[in-house]
This record gives sequence, structure tokens and C-alpha cells, in this order.
Amino acid sequence: MRYINEVDIKHKRVFIRVDFNVPLDAEGNITDDNRIRAALPTINYALDEQARVIVASHMGRPKGKKVPELSMAPVARRLGRLLQKEVKLAPDCVGPEVKRMVDELQPGEVLMLENLRYHPGETLNDPDFARELASYCDVYVDDAFAVAHRENASVVAITQFVPVAVAGFTMKKELSYFRRAMIDPARPLAAVIGGAKAKTKLPALENLLAHADKILIGGAMANTFLMSVGIDVGRSLYEEELVPTANMLLRTAKREGVKMYIPVDCVVADRMDPKAETKLVTVQDVPKDWMIMDIGPATSLLYREALADCKTIIWNGPMGAFEMDAFSRGTYNMVSTIAQSYALTIIGGGDTDVAVSSAGESENISYISTGGGAFLALLTGEKLPAVEALGGMD
Ligand code: 3PG
Repeated sequence: MRYINEVDIKHKRVFIRVDFNVPLDAEGNITDDNRIRAALPTINYALDEQARVIVASHMGRPKGKKVPELSMAPVARRLGRLLQKEVKLAPDCVGPEVKRMVDELQPGEVLMLENLRYHPGETLNDPDFARELASYCDVYVDDAFAVAHRENASVVAITQFVPVAVAGFTMKKELSYFRRAMIDPARPLAAVIGGAKAKTKLPALENLLAHADKILIGGAMANTFLMSVGIDVGRSLYEEELVPTANMLLRTAKREGVKMYIPVDCVVADRMDPKAETKLVTVQDVPKDWMIMDIGPATSLLYREALADCKTIIWNGPMGAFEMDAFSRGTYNMVSTIAQSYALTIIGGGDTDVAVSSAGESENISYISTGGGAFLALLTGEKLPAVEALGGMD
């Protein structure tokens, strides 16, 4: 894989594929612009080289149709503010008008294309759609790590039609932190895995068993593990069909000498509601009609001690329903444990980054990945199609 700074881009038409699929509120305002900020080094580098910069991204899942609420307009405005220069927005991502705007682009100017997923060809990895995108550029730069797990036209098929295809600095940083965490980690290596659904995380856990020294489980997915060792979780969410797999993972961990931790106590509520009645109980004492909503203080302490000697920590997924104040303590305790750690700390996926930034601890984490699904795919040991299309990881 080559990178943007290894090829000549001076005055060239440079197509930078970014992932600006950022969260928007009901009024269409951007609520978190981290993905836009992460792409600034690559875009600024191209501008410093006096390239003619074309920026393209998807937003949401418009399913091949023009959905005005998923326009790139707010993103183009925010990018303009961050770059402190005008960012023109094309009315579409392909077609004669886009071609005209690309042809008129001067060195040092930025043109943003409209949502790539307004066309069905994007998610179908359609070669004709990819060829049209490719025709706009001399150099293609993929800086969209967060969508690298999708076989989409603008990150996979396009690489066959462009004269030069390289990666940007975000892609480089993401892959290099992943390598430091999973391929050549300082040990002990711990993985903290939480979130609601065991189904989406069990394949990653299976792969992590081959890499990590310790695995700590939290979130509603921990309930499936508790059930698998015969602990009744009352009315808590859990995935019955995955109980045998959870048990198998615990047994494999034991056999392989990987220390796997599951909660010992929890916050329970009589209903899933911020105003619910709550209490702290050991996992053996979950009342029949109550639900587990967070890990408890003893578990937080146990997890803090388990992580104390670790030199590398990967965290994906909250410890409880932290969006509700009453069930946020376990997740925020984990944020502070990881933020205070001397280990190399890498966070990605789910809402983990939201918890870290709302706690004001982003500066104290070694690296916060821009990827959700892509980060999890790497943890699962999958190859990312967009990375493979660029020649694979170094
Ligand atoms: C993400 O937000 O994880 C990426 O932008 C990919 O989006 P997708 O899950 O809609 O493909």
C-alpha cells in the first residue's frame, strides 16, 4: 500500500474518499464532527501541494435515492469552516454538471460531491459507477477507514479505473494502531468488550482469544455469558441461541490461559426507564422481574485491577445503558480507568467514543478510531475489502 505523500499530486485532480457519515440531530445539525476533523491532515496536505481536491463521502443509507435529509450540505459547510476556505458542493456525485465543476476546479480549490449513496451503484460496487467517479481524477486517495469493511464502488471498484490509488493519513494511522494493538502488542494485552448485542461481538471475541491475555466483558451482552454459567438474569436482555457459544468461549479461554472476566455485580432496574427503581445486587441475586442495566461497583473495581498491569488495552462497547444517567456509572468508571492507564489505549466502535468524549477524556486516550463496523471487522480478524483493493496491509 502506498500513501498520498509517496506520489506526485502537485496541481493534479485528487479524489479523496473520506467517511463523513457523521451523526445529525433532528434539525440536521452535526452532533459530532470527529470524522471530518480526522480527514483534515490528508485534505490539507493535498491543498498544500496545490492539488485540485475532490472530496466524496456517503451519508446514512439513502438506498440509491436522493434523500434531502442525507445531503452532504451541512458537512460541506463544516469542512469549509474547519479548512477556512470555500468548499463548493456539487448537486450530485456523477453526471455532466459534476464533470463541469471538476473541470473548472483550480489548484488549491475544494469540491465536495453529493452523497455517493444517492446512486445504487455505490453499494452495489458497480464498475460503471466507479468508472465515472474515477474519470474525475488523476490520483485517488482512500482516507475512509470507517467504510473500509464495505465492498462499495468508491472504495473498491474505483481502484481498478484510476491511474494511481493510494491511502490517506487517517487510513495509515488506523492501520498502524491496529497493528500495534493486535499484531505486535506490548503485553499484557487486554480487550474490553461491551455493548448490547452478543451476536455482533462474539466473532470478535473468538478472534481476540488468539491475541489477548485478558478479556473483560460488559454491557447487555454480558448477560448471555452469565446465563451460560447458570446465573439467572431475570428479565434482562440476553440472546438464548448464543448461550452455548458464550459457554464455549469461556471454556476455550480457560484452556488457552486467557483470563476472561464477566461481571460479579450489577445495577438492576424494575424497567428500562431513566426513572426506574434501581438497586445494586450481586449477579447471583438479580430479582426475577428486574433487568440488569449496568455493571456494578465491585465489577468496576475488579476490572480496574485486571487492567492495572496491562500495556495495551482495546475497548469496544459500553458497560451498560450509559445514555441513561442511572446506568452510566460502569461505563464512566471504565472511561476513567482507561484514561488513567499508562498502557497504549485504543478505543473504537459502538458508542464508546461518545462516552469518552462526553467524559472529557478524549485527550487521555492513545487513539480513538473513526471506525465502528470497520474497527470491529479488524478485531474479528477479517480483511477489509477497501484495504485489500489498495494492496493490503503493509
Ligand atoms: C459507519 O458509520 O460505520 C460507516 O460510515 C459505514 O456505514 P454503513 O454501516 O451504513 O455502511
